[in-house]
Amino acid sequence: MTIQYKFPEGFWWGSATSATQIEGAANEGGKGKNIWDYWYEIEPNRFFDNIGPETTSNFYHQYKEDIKLMKEIGHNSFRLSISWSRLIPSGRGKVNPEAVKFYNNVINELIANGIEPFVNLYHFDMPLELQNKGGWESREVVEAYRTYAIQCFQLFGDRVKKWFTFNEPIVPVEGGYLYDFHYPNIVDFKRAAQVAYHTIVANAKAIEAFRTFNFADSKIGIILNLTPSYPRSQNPYDLKASRICDLFFNRSFLDPAVLGEYPEELVEILREHGQLPAIGEEDLDLIKNNTVDLLGVNYYQPRRVKAKEHLPNPYSPFMPDWFFDYYEMPGRKMNPYRGWEIYEKGIYDIMINLKENYGNIESFISENGMGVQNEERYLKDGQIQDDYRIEFIKGHLQWLHKSIQEGCNVKGYHLWTFMDNWSWSNAYKNRYGFISVDIETQKRTPKKSAYWFKSVAENNGF
Ligand code: BG6
Repeated sequence: MTIQYKFPEGFWWGSATSATQIEGAANEGGKGKNIWDYWYEIEPNRFFDNIGPETTSNFYHQYKEDIKLMKEIGHNSFRLSISWSRLIPSGRGKVNPEAVKFYNNVINELIANGIEPFVNLYHFDMPLELQNKGGWESREVVEAYRTYAIQCFQLFGDRVKKWFTFNEPIVPVEGGYLYDFHYPNIVDFKRAAQVAYHTIVANAKAIEAFRTFNFADSKIGIILNLTPSYPRSQNPYDLKASRICDLFFNRSFLDPAVLGEYPEELVEILREHGQLPAIGEEDLDLIKNNTVDLLGVNYYQPRRVKAKEHLPNPYSPFMPDWFFDYYEMPGRKMNPYRGWEIYEKGIYDIMINLKENYGNIESFISENGMGVQNEERYLKDGQIQDDYRIEFIKGHLQWLHKSIQEGCNVKGYHLWTFMDNWSWSNAYKNRYGFISVDIETQKRTPKKSAYWFKSVAENNGF
């Protein structure tokens, strides 16, 4: 077999998950409640088919079988997140020994199977007691997160060498404080800005604490969902619209996390409109001195942007889309099942941008994937024939490969996701996994893409 796209030696091949989405056992093992458990209790109709987070994909009980499958399909690395409310049920204070045992077992099992654990500390799952104290709007919660991070480094840092502070920190900002798809479903830009800012302070505090441990060969990073912003035309108004969209949705996290400072133009816009968050005296130095070693890039789709056709109503509340409109580019390729654009070259554009403007920081694709509804329609001979997913991954890997050839510092590719899982308000609507999961019986069956990916991992290319 000729390998046309060969990746650098030691490339990380694997997949990503998060605790709330796969563990299940939400009311077992001494776990405390998080915002998802609570939101489902009070508003079950928000969740597709009324399915909540209590059982999800049962990783809590089936982790050994799942890790065996990971090995079987060639993973050399795997991302999980720690559930804050499982480890520390009230968010701060007493550590839950059953959770320590569970995460130790998972980490040890991964290592014993030759799979490197990539561990993320926060994937959308605020402990309920801390949300009741104000969630990310509160400085107390930032301090509680710092303590939680230190506990994790102490407990698991002897074996875990890749740490992440947050997954897609902008999503709880958008969902919880701007566009009503996460709890506490508030719509208020200024509060959203405070949440975003505190997350960056929390990220820097965790990094600062991490460095005091002096772990050998360990790295700490953040995982950002980057959405390259493409203007409709080269007309200066479209260009400006696209630049501002990029400031709000990419650079608001990318710049402080990687470069240690906020883009001036963004700060100016917020200042002009009275939307700046409250800033602690020493924060800016903390952010400056504690940038990430490693960047996880989640890439699903770009944003296509044009200048606003009508000025925003000055009495409407301040929102990022005061400054631009989205644009449906004719002929763009869509994932018909999820309604998201598929634009493979976006992955290359992101990497080139990181090379040129972000010091060529060490990075990897920490999520990329294709969600499909009613995927059982592709079942044939007991296996889901997901050729569309194979094509999707291939298309993105080709562009990733090109970026590496051009000198981008890319170390791996993780698919979202290992097995079909529960996804926030979409629950089990969109299936993304290499492994299909029957949610009644919890039976796992690898899809066609799982075996294709195995050969890619084994050949380090395709
Ligand atoms: C990613 C998140 O952005 O999108 C995941 O990190 C999420 O947690 C995934 O599950 C897919 O989302 P959805 O809404 O298409 O099921």
